[in-house]
Amino acid sequence: PALEEQLAELQRFQVIAHRGASGHAPESSMAALELAHEMGADYLELDVQITADGELVAFHDDEISRTSSGEGKINDHTLEALKALDAGTWFNEAHPDQAETAFEGAEILTLDEVFQRFGHEARYYLETKSPSINPGLEEALVETLEAHDMIESGRVLVQSFEQDSLLKMRELNENVPLIQLVWYYPDEEDDSRLLEWTGVTPGPGEITDADFQAVADYAAGIGTNVTYDGEDVINVDFIRQAQDNGLPVHVYTVNEREEMQRLLDWGVDGIFTNYPDRLLEVVE
Ligand code: G3P
Ligand code: CA
Repeated sequence: PALEEQLAELQRFQVIAHRGASGHAPESSMAALELAHEMGADYLELDVQITADGELVAFHDDEISRTSSGEGKINDHTLEALKALDAGTWFNEAHPDQAETAFEGAEILTLDEVFQRFGHEARYYLETKSPSINPGLEEALVETLEAHDMIESGRVLVQSFEQDSLLKMRELNENVPLIQLVWYYPDEEDDSRLLEWTGVTPGPGEITDADFQAVADYAAGIGTNVTYDGEDVINVDFIRQAQDNGLPVHVYTVNEREEMQRLLDWGVDGIFTNYPDRLLEVVE
């Protein structure tokens, strides 16, 4: 019933805190997650990768240099090495107006730590990031989700750009609700749109009902970008067509109030944002 309740709630608008309240605190840090939770976001969004010693961590980039004091690839590092890094000071330097001394020395988090902190009080929107360079990610993720009873209790969505990763998740546990991420971009050659959607009829032209149905076969929804280089790459018809094929549409990543309102008017089913507080204000 808890899982069914979660799926039923996907019919209502969802506020998705992108890497936590990452507009206010270092992305994917405990501070960003605490803030998003306090603000009342429906989901805490995190990207999941695997360390050299097989631990799951919440981290977006493949390289660690942008958001930590280290260098190199995240999955070349052990958890111990990652734990020694400072994943907060970069934020203070990049956003002096939002800087807080408490952010200094922020730790890269394991998924276990996140689940231990928020348990079943939160919902999690977890992305299997770069599955091709994170072998074993899906197996470790299902194991961790099961250990914390996150699936049957309706606490988690798993998203990926890679269809194979989602299908692997389904194979490992058929009850995990899945979100297929897509990335629309203009085709420079013929100026039509391409859909980068591994395994599902990529190519020029409009997406068909059959494409959406192929996704609805395994996924509970779809996540997409809205603009590329400031130009819209989807429209209200795209959203309606997905919804008519049983797929709620969540859009990433929207931070300005006006844009939030525009997408609410389009009838999107959820918005990924670095500012869940702003989005909640706009929704009200
Ligand atoms: O997961 C939705 C959105 O977060 C995808 O983009 O690069 O922020 O993970 P990215
Ligand atoms: Ca993500």
